[in-house]
Amino acid sequence: MNSITIISSSVRKGRQSHRVALFFKKYLEENRLASVEILDLNSYRFPIFEERLRLMKAPPDNAVEFAARVKESDGIIIVTPEYNGGYPASIKNVIDLLYDEWHRKPVAISTVSDGNYGGSQVIMSLQFTLWKMRAWTVPARFPVPFVQDNFNEEGNITGRPSMEKRAKSFIDELIWCIEAGKLMMKPIKKNIYNP
Ligand SMILES: Cc1cc2nc3c(=O)[nH]c(=O)nc-3n(C[C@H](O)[C@H](O)[C@H](O)COP(=O)(O)O)c2cc1C
Repeated sequence: MNSITIISSSVRKGRQSHRVALFFKKYLEENRLASVEILDLNSYRFPIFEERLRLMKAPPDNAVEFAARVKESDGIIIVTPEYNGGYPASIKNVIDLLYDEWHRKPVAISTVSDGNYGGSQVIMSLQFTLWKMRAWTVPARFPVPFVQDNFNEEGNITGRPSMEKRAKSFIDELIWCIEAGKLMMKPIKKNIYNP
């Protein structure tokens, strides 16, 4: 079974995007699609970035553990709110902290807002940053508008049932990319094109 790690990015008191992280955990587990873990940046409370983990002389244990969890995952879902047209510093903080953990890692992005647009202004900038880190960003998106109406605190859908249909195609795409990546990593058999 594939392992998928969900990074919940908001560290704000009273945050609502965490509901979407809880939803994906339940969705993946209930449908037996992956083993799942949430890396909650609100629990880690990493300090503002000073240096990349691989260059630290005495890296903090929680940063080492966070990096290992990202590295070991087959795929990542980043759940992020939109703040002033961008993603919060908390997620940039951990993207910059790691390095080769991101390489060739399938990453799917779910953006969240309490308004009409589902945090969709985040997509371009977050995809670009992940591309610079050589992650494989999944083309599917999962923007969540009016998060307070669409999900409850336990991560259950309370809004439109179409949300589950959209979640399915988002997750299908992530799993397709994970499987495609695994196939590409397999040694290529010798044939007339590869003597
Ligand atoms: C500093 C700040 C800036 C925000 N900027 C935007 C914004 O540009 N667009 C938007 O749709 N919502 C914006 N919001 C509202 C968030 O979408 C809302 O808080 C939502 O619940 C997701 O963030 P949360 O997980 O921190 O709750 C902003 C919220 C904060 C705290």
